[in-house]
Amino acid sequence: MSHVLTAVAWPYANGPRHIGHISGFGVPSDVFSRYMRMAGHDVLMVSGTDEHGTPILVQADAEGVSARELADRYNRVIVEDLHRLGLSYDLFTRTTTANHYAVVQELFLGLYRNGYMVLKPTMSAISPSTGRTLPDRYIEGTCPICGYDGARGDQCDNCGNQLDPVDLINPRSRINGEVPKFVETEHFFLDLPALAEALGEWLKSRTDWRPNVLRFSLNLLEDLRPRAMSRDIDWGVPIPLDGWRDRPDKRLYVWFDAVIGYLSATIEWARRTGDPEAWRRWWNNPDVRQYYFMGKDNITFHSQIWPAELLGYNGQGAKGGTPGRYGTLELPTEVVSSEFLTMEGRKFSSSRRVVIYVRDFLERYDADALRYFIAVAGPENQDTDFTWAEFLRRNNDELVAGWGNLVNRTASLVAKNVGAIPEAGPLTDADRALLATTRQAFDTVGKLLERHRQKAAIGEAMRAVAEANRYLSEQAPWKLKNTDPERMRTVLHVATQAVDDCKTLLTPFLPFSAQKVHELFGGEGIWSPMPQIHEVTDLDNGRPYPVLMGDYNTQARWESRPVRPGTPVAPPKPIFAKLDPSIVDEELARLEQS
Ligand code: MF3
Ligand code: ZN
Repeated sequence: MSHVLTAVAWPYANGPRHIGHISGFGVPSDVFSRYMRMAGHDVLMVSGTDEHGTPILVQADAEGVSARELADRYNRVIVEDLHRLGLSYDLFTRTTTANHYAVVQELFLGLYRNGYMVLKPTMSAISPSTGRTLPDRYIEGTCPICGYDGARGDQCDNCGNQLDPVDLINPRSRINGEVPKFVETEHFFLDLPALAEALGEWLKSRTDWRPNVLRFSLNLLEDLRPRAMSRDIDWGVPIPLDGWRDRPDKRLYVWFDAVIGYLSATIEWARRTGDPEAWRRWWNNPDVRQYYFMGKDNITFHSQIWPAELLGYNGQGAKGGTPGRYGTLELPTEVVSSEFLTMEGRKFSSSRRVVIYVRDFLERYDADALRYFIAVAGPENQDTDFTWAEFLRRNNDELVAGWGNLVNRTASLVAKNVGAIPEAGPLTDADRALLATTRQAFDTVGKLLERHRQKAAIGEAMRAVAEANRYLSEQAPWKLKNTDPERMRTVLHVATQAVDDCKTLLTPFLPFSAQKVHELFGGEGIWSPMPQIHEVTDLDNGRPYPVLMGDYNTQARWESRPVRPGTPVAPPKPIFAKLDPSIVDEELARLEQS
């Protein structure tokens, strides 16, 4: 058993989540955590809403509310979205808690004391017409590194490098096209060059990452310059130094504080569970494994900025230093990034309304149907398109006709012909072969999940399902009722055991239906635990807020467990809904109208 941190990217609290978002950070992190818990590890899965920075300010302007009101509004909406998907966070919190502010400030001070956070004069962009600071991502121009013309002030989406707006060639405001004016100001810079060697050493030891992610991250090492970690903005964590703390116009950069959320959320979790030092098991323990889940536009911040913050805090860069009061903090084991999901051939865009929000999706379809699609057809290693036709096909031909059918046939046959799980008589080769297949799958599927190869993993689990369906068709127990009832009972016993094994294998992917299957075959209590929304008070006299938490220690283990003959089985209701083909046109029409 080991300690595993599942660190899930923090969604901006600037709108409801769409299925593109949750295909990147959401479903993969939950599948992994559920599996690792079943395999006996001590998993802590943390995240929260990311509530600072320009993305929040811009949307607050658009909705005519304050940043805080906006963050409150969408923090709650997002908590509800993630809850409905059954994402098993040990803590899903937010970045506007007093605890988060304190942890961010401690990290800043540690970096500052060790010399990795340096104050430097720099240029800041102003809108000539309004006189207001023009945020980085609202400036656009030509990338000085790759020459791409649509680069933003903070990042180039073509080459992935982080940028400074002042370096853009032909900069212009994305709001009104005017050329920004650059004025002299001061900011705190993270001294990445002083951390370059340590970063390189760490990254070069990360050989087993997804190749795209590793290549991208290694590339970033080529151009390491100091990065500004403060902004001319009035919404964010204050800079904890005399003369800066109370300035209304300077705050820490949203990405500086957001990544620290992984640590602050672990600390908050520990404080909430009444063992305030418990967080150290996931941060000060050299044997811990930390996995970070996100979409690919977040890689830079997790394979460069966050490890640099940690190395600097630990005093492990070229300038030396000593760890602050949190001690030496562990670096990520792996950055598990997905590629992008598109929607009917187009980029998701809330503003252009090419979007399907999680909550609307789940009004009409089951969470497991969505989870299945993402697991089996999501953007694990390459950009992938979501189409309603493909969703329909995967749901009806695979989930319903494969897994749903196996469960349904088996439960009906058992209910009708025996009424309870039967005993097995002598086993035939066919019986033994099926049981060997499902038992063997625990090893195969488990190894794939541990290596973040979720598509291959669910493919293997579904192959076991297909084998079981074939077995049932070949053995045709319904024909044996009068001729050989003993053999019929053996077949139904073996089929029930195979269904139970497949249920376990599919639990990380399809937790809602796994619970139903568990109950269908007479299982008691909770098999697939679900997160709960709790309204909590801030631990340090801040304002109350909703969190997701849960008790995920259940009976579910990653192994075949013998079914218990004699357990009553009642006639089943279908566990999955077969969808009418008309939904495709309906959904496409909705997309057009909106
Ligand atoms: N809010 C960012 C986004 O949606 C992700 C932040 S991840 C964190 O792209 F690590 F910084 F929190
Ligand atoms: Zn570029």
